[in-house]
Amino acid sequence: MRPKVYVTRRLPDDLLEPLSNIADITVFPHEDMPVDRTALLQQVNGVAGIVSMLTDRIDEEVFAAAGPSLQVVANMAVGYDNIDREAAIRHNVMVTNTPDVLTETTADLVFGLLLATARRIPQAEQYLRTGQWKTWSPMLFAGTDVFGKTLGIVGMGRIGQAVAKRALGFGMRVLYHNRRPNRDQEATMHSTWLPFDELLRAADFVVVLVPGSADTAALFGVREFALMKPSAIFINAARGTVVDESALVEALSNHTIHAAGLDVYQQEPIRMDHPLLSLDNAVLLPHIGSASVATRRRMAELAIENCVAVITGRPPIHRIV
Ligand code: DGY
Repeated sequence: MRPKVYVTRRLPDDLLEPLSNIADITVFPHEDMPVDRTALLQQVNGVAGIVSMLTDRIDEEVFAAAGPSLQVVANMAVGYDNIDREAAIRHNVMVTNTPDVLTETTADLVFGLLLATARRIPQAEQYLRTGQWKTWSPMLFAGTDVFGKTLGIVGMGRIGQAVAKRALGFGMRVLYHNRRPNRDQEATMHSTWLPFDELLRAADFVVVLVPGSADTAALFGVREFALMKPSAIFINAARGTVVDESALVEALSNHTIHAAGLDVYQQEPIRMDHPLLSLDNAVLLPHIGSASVATRRRMAELAIENCVAVITGRPPIHRIV
């Protein structure tokens, strides 16, 4: 009997082929909405594999609903904070993710968001589109320079290093903070380690790229925003959970910091009545860090490769658990 696999979101047919060659697959039929919880719990019953998205909470209940046939959860994301790793271990299920293939695309977006926030590009475009542009004027949308400034990266992994490379072209000084300095690689990373608080005090732009986890929950709160310069620009393209959003709203409203560019939120999609949406000094994107066609296809392909590998008894390319 062929193994069963559940794919929690519609993906391009050609990418699903390697999976349908070895398994009976059921694919949630929508691309732009997540599978609801009840359907997820029903669909996973008796499967050998789940190809999941970051919008699916894969926890004890899901592992129990799947039962002992489940061998692998292949997440189509580098982040895996949606998956309960302890539960996966208890149920003897492998968990895989899709790093590397999204590094450069995400770094492009981080830099784009940084530029957009510093130079107020979305606000300026909106101004033009709504017919408010009457004349060139000396201080119209005068923003913050990026070149020559100090960039502080909190969470210097693969994406952080790719952002640092881009910063070099802008003549920026790059600081980073990880739990431990990586002195041997600082020359190739074009950056210098600083303790967390010192980095916050020194940086003109603070970019956060740490993974979402219990350790990083609300890493940025009242204290951290108060340590930053009043001219600082805060960029989050990691996970919404790393920021205390009320503290951020407060810091932006009181001008404790100058502006923020966000791609991720505590709750996604962000509520339309969220106070962040009323702030003119915030640039808000809908979690599109890795969203280029090529990269999203590569991520789906890799998630499927990981799933196929485990089901056919081979090691996956990227295993977390
Ligand atoms: C990830 O992969 O974790 C990103 O948040 C989405 O690309």
